[in-house]
Formats: sequence, structure tokens, C-alpha cells
Amino acid sequence: MDTLIISDTSRLNQAASIIQSGGLVAVPTETVYGLAANALDGKAVSSIFKAKGRPSDNPLIVHISSLDMLDSLVKSISPKAKLLMDTFWPGPLTLIFEASDIIPEEVRAGLSTVGIRFPSHPVIHDLIELSGVPVAAPSANTSGKPSPTNATRVIDDLFGKVDAIIDGGDCSVGLESTVVDTTSDVPTILRPGGITESMLRTVVSEVAIDPALINQDSGITPISPGMKYTHYSPNAQVIIVKGDLNIVTQEINQRVKLHTKEGKTVGVLATDETASLFNADQVLSVGSEHNLNEIAANLFEALRKFDDFNIDIVYSLAFPNKGIGKAIMNRLEKSAGYNIIDK
Ligand code: TXA
Ligand code: MG
Repeated sequence: MDTLIISDTSRLNQAASIIQSGGLVAVPTETVYGLAANALDGKAVSSIFKAKGRPSDNPLIVHISSLDMLDSLVKSISPKAKLLMDTFWPGPLTLIFEASDIIPEEVRAGLSTVGIRFPSHPVIHDLIELSGVPVAAPSANTSGKPSPTNATRVIDDLFGKVDAIIDGGDCSVGLESTVVDTTSDVPTILRPGGITESMLRTVVSEVAIDPALINQDSGITPISPGMKYTHYSPNAQVIIVKGDLNIVTQEINQRVKLHTKEGKTVGVLATDETASLFNADQVLSVGSEHNLNEIAANLFEALRKFDDFNIDIVYSLAFPNKGIGKAIMNRLEKSAGYNIIDK
């Protein structure tokens, strides 16, 4: 398939006609790049699964460009959902509702519910407006890889498999949206993201967390089907080392020496403050340890860079498990397949 690269966003009408005729368009959002199709066209939606190699039991998020679009897509909107929408939309928050009958089976992957997001990024906003339909869009990566936060990474994964890729620069948040179920009485976080638990609590006093997230290694089935997959993995094996920085540094440097003797190439995922402490084939900083938003924005790109350098094993520091740090650690632990050394 020919893939059109659109780097001039004044040419979005071309992308909109592709959506209208049932094609696939990769598009920037404030979180990560998405792979969009007309959400009301089951056949178009099923081609998303094919292009990504995505398991068919993993439902898609439907993106809207105005609140008016919401009513026909869902059965009801609870007062708490309304409060969350009023506060955090447009933005990196996906809310789960009971789906109306116009949502195709392919979007819901067999569930009775649908996830809806009103993104704040102007490019996806304009694409939806010009298309005149809501778009279903998962992250625009090959299934299992870290989500793409720039157009080059989308091209790496999907060139030749989709109709168009819109280049809108780097994504500002860098991690996928927070997913919150609003179908039960207490809103429940199914996937941590840029809108944190404490931000949600400023609007609704009670917020629950899917128990499968609290103890990710427990074998409890998560409510969001996508959260059960090992994900975000570069080709390199990722290992997280937690604990006191001096001990962690020693441990990693010793392991790097051993691996080097075995003929393996080793990377370290560190911060601006710690990068100089490590001796490895590639030491990458994801930003300052004092700026978790910066770390979130750089994490997926750093994981992909290790593959550019053909690194076999990556040792990563752990990051503070608070605020957006919860989303960072959720993605990092998944990319490591829960391979964590606690020193
Ligand atoms: O930030 C984002 O959310 C990005 C951008 C493109 O909008 N999209 C994204 O989509 O991350 P995806 O498909 O990679 O992840 C969607 C997650 C999956 O874990 C999926 O299982 C969950 O949302 N999900 C979707 N619909 C759901 C539903 N009805 N009930 C529970 N979980 C749902
Ligand atoms: Mg994804």
C-alpha cells in the first residue's frame, strides 16, 4: 500500500477524505500518535487491527471533537462523568460509558461499553471536524511496541500498512490517556496516565483503582482488556533496578561488565542527574529526576532508541511512584515484563 506522508497540516482535508472513504490515517494527539478510522464503519475499524497486528479482544477508544458528538455514542452520562468531562476535556482522559447501538462490534471488541476521549491536540481535533465523524484510534504502533511519540516512529512501524501519516511533531504528554470507568457508582481508574488520581479526586471525592493495577503481578484480570498484555517492549530485554542509588549504581555497573564479557551490548536508562554514574554501551537520560512530566514525555522514545543502537539488555532506574510517576512506572514495568531487581 502507498502511504501518504502529510507534513503540512493545511492539507488535512486529504486525510479527512481518506477517513470518509474507510481508510486509515495516523495522527498526532497530545498523548501519543493514534491510528484513526471512521468509528462508525466496522470494516474500516477492523483494518486497524490488521495494520497493528492487534489482538481482536482489545477494544478501541473513540475520539470526538465536540461534546455534541457524545450523545449519540453512549446510552447515558452519569453526573460524575459529567463533572469529569467538564473539568478534563478536552485532554488526556478517556471515559468508559455504556455504548449506544451505533458503536460497531469491532470498536467494542465484544464489550457492552465504549471508551470516549475528547483530545486537546489541534491536528486530531481538525481531522475529526473535517471528517464529520468520530474516529476510533489506538496508539499508532505495531502491537506490543512502545507507543510512538513522533511521526518517525509511526513511519518505522506502519509505513506501507496505512493510507496516510500526518507529521505534527512531538507529543507533549508522551504516555497514553488515563482510562476511567464511569459505568459503576465510583469512577475507577483502569489505566494510569497524565490525569492523575489526585487530579480526579479534586472533582469526584471517591476514586477507585482497578485492583489488577495495584498489584500488577498478581494474576488478577484487569478490567481494560489491553492492560493484560505485556506491552511497550523494545527488542532489548528491559530490567528495572530499584533501591538506594549507590547500591543500584554498583549493581548495574557490575552487571554491565559481566554482560560485556559475554559479548552482549548493554544500555542504561537514567536521568540527567545520574547518567554520568554509568559505564555502558548506551546511557540515555529521560530528563531531570525533578521533572516527571519530562520523563513521561521522553520514556517511549528512549526505549525505542536502544533498539536503534542494537542494545541487547537495558537496565533502568525506577522513578517515584506518585502523580504521573504511577503511569511512568506502569509502562516501564510492563516493558520489563515485571523483571525488577529490588536492592
Ligand atoms: O492516549 C490514548 O488513549 C491513545 C491516543 C491515540 O488517544 N490511545 C490509546 O489507545 O492508547 P490504545 O488502544 O492503545 O489503548 C486503549 C486502552 C486499552 O488498554 C483498551 O483495552 C482500553 O483502553 N479500553 C478501550 N475501550 C475500553 C472499554 N470499553 N472498557 C475497558 N477498557 C477499554
Ligand atoms: Mg496502545
